[in-house]
Amino acid sequence: MSAMPANRPLALVTGASNGIGTEIARQLADRGYDLIGTGRGDSIDTVAERLRAQGATVHPLRADLATYAGVENPWKQVQEIGRPLDVAVLNAGRSIGGAFATDTDLDDELQLIALNVNAVIHLAKRVVPGMLARGKGRILITSSISATMPTPYETVYGPSKAFGYSFAESLREELRGSGVTVTALLPGATDSDFHQRAGMGRTAIGKGQKNDKRLVAQQGVDALLAGKDHVVGGDRATKRQALLNRFLPEPVKACRQGADAKP
Ligand SMILES: NC(=O)c1ccc[n+]([C@@H]2O[C@H](COP(=O)([O-])OP(=O)(O)OC[C@H]3O[C@@H](n4cnc5c(N)ncnc54)[C@H](OP(=O)(O)O)[C@@H]3O)[C@@H](O)[C@H]2O)c1
Repeated sequence: MSAMPANRPLALVTGASNGIGTEIARQLADRGYDLIGTGRGDSIDTVAERLRAQGATVHPLRADLATYAGVENPWKQVQEIGRPLDVAVLNAGRSIGGAFATDTDLDDELQLIALNVNAVIHLAKRVVPGMLARGKGRILITSSISATMPTPYETVYGPSKAFGYSFAESLREELRGSGVTVTALLPGATDSDFHQRAGMGRTAIGKGQKNDKRLVAQQGVDALLAGKDHVVGGDRATKRQALLNRFLPEPVKACRQGADAKP
């Protein structure tokens, strides 16, 4: 076997079972990392098998990160592995499409906040002290280009991703000079199960052109390992949109985004 676990750095990737997270895990395996990957179902085991074929030691963990115990229990398993984390990628997340007033369900939206916000805070709280003690570590938080604009018809999602972006930049500043960096990844619309799962398959965004998840993951991993503060994930049009969003008034962006996300 080519892998030498003791000598290879170790990365935790949440949401490694699908989409962008699988690609991030693959990129890290390519760059010599062993992996702890989380997912909710059987597909994390399939992904783990593929990553092992790349020479990595892989620990697949099943966890519903939308509950306190669902974060704390896998974290105990991470500690039992007994190796320090060099990288943590807090990537698991989801959206909910539909009109806030009439379509979407409150419990579902509170679950979304539990996953996209609470789990990020919770895992960062567990991961950072060990990295700080070692004076070394890289953290990537998957936010979204949605963090740069209002997101009507994904009314809870965009704000949850704005949290991720601001949290990453805030924590990063606190840790400046410590050897631990925090990077936010802001993907534009990307080809994964994300929009279908959000019930947005038939919206203009759902049907529209998407960025290649391999490109988004590569840009995220490059920025993570370079210790950058953030990176917009996607093609030139996506990067241009993110730049424009800095200058456009919020109501203008809301109107455009609403037209594309309307059911
Ligand atoms: N795709 C886009 O257009 C886009 C754009 C901007 C930002 N993002 C962000 O990118 C990240 C990854 O999304 P994706 O596009 O790769 O979507 P995806 O293909 O649906 O993958 C989502 C991942 O999150 C995991 N996950 C979902 N709910 C979970 C829960 N309750 N507990 C634990 N894990 C859970 C999924 O696990 P299972 O598959 O095992 O259920 C899966 O691994 C998300 O944070 C998303 O907000 C996506």
